[in-house]
Amino acid sequence: MKKILFAILLTAIMAPLAHAQNPFAEPKNLKVLPETIKGYQLRQIMRRFSFALGERCTYCHDRVEDENGARMVWDTDNNDNKRVTREMIKLVGHVRQVTANLYPDNPDHKPTAFVCTSCHRGQANPFLIEEIMNNEIAEGGTTAAKNKYLELKEEYYGSHTYDFTGFTLAEYANRLVNEGKNDNAVEMAKFGTEQFPNEAYAHTILGNAHMNNGNTADAIKAYEASLAINPDQNGVISALEAAKKAM
Ligand code: HEC
Ligand code: HEC
Repeated sequence: MKKILFAILLTAIMAPLAHAQNPFAEPKNLKVLPETIKGYQLRQIMRRFSFALGERCTYCHDRVEDENGARMVWDTDNNDNKRVTREMIKLVGHVRQVTANLYPDNPDHKPTAFVCTSCHRGQANPFLIEEIMNNEIAEGGTTAAKNKYLELKEEYYGSHTYDFTGFTLAEYANRLVNEGKNDNAVEMAKFGTEQFPNEAYAHTILGNAHMNNGNTADAIKAYEASLAINPDQNGVISALEAAKKAM
């Protein structure tokens, strides 16, 4: 009897407290998430949004400051990121629906988990490192791109946000070669060999970039450096022979 009374008392005391302190208990403005969602689930989803984007609650929610002091307001719709997020929730729901029904003849198919992080990887705008370098080159040339790369590597290396492998850097330079942006290609390919001296592919791409730029002597050196790391590359052997013929 005593126990029950205590429990009732405790609930009576805790309820208003919980109401005031827990913004998840009674959401007032859910337009996409189900209204029946439990407080702890909503809390978990909001935390995941924050981690997926590498941002705080204020990225989507309003912080107001008035005579009552500073506080968060959760149910307002003033923030464009909140509006965009509603579209993103629908997008994720759509993809999940598609992947769940990919194999109608296989009822055992378990769809791969698909979440905000599948794209965002800890950043608000899910840039790939290649796009960032393109933007940097457009604004400040290859020097800006290299500096940005090193800056991001310092901050994000080891996380899933950007791909800092030697292959991807060399492949980026290869893209510039293919687009005929010869000077930028040489600069970025050189950077690739500096960052990854043991990556044969980086030297190969530098060779291709030099060839495209009419610099046969340096192309030969680069192909030789690639073959010194890995002699078993028929394509590079042919490229080296062609370069020597062109000398
Ligand atoms: C990337 C954007 C984003 C981030 C970051 C985010 N939220 Fe939200 N939040 C939303 C959206 C969108 C809704 C509304 C969902 C809907 O309409 O179904 C929402 C709804 C809520 C609600 C319900 C408000 C109501 O009364 O309707 C609460 C509470 C909340 N968020 C708390 C938080 C907290 C706490 C954090 C930080 C841990 C956070 N949110 C981080 C986008 C975000
Ligand atoms: C299929 C990939 C993908 C998924 C999954 C995804 N997003 Fe996005 N999101 C994007 C892309 C791409 C952009 C950039 C849109 C643009 O071009 O402005 C973006 C932009 C955003 C923005 C605007 C950021 C800004 O600063 O401009 C927010 C906020 C956001 N997403 C939240 C989310 C949340 C929360 C989830 C999970 C519910 C999510 N996204 C899932 C691809 C995705």
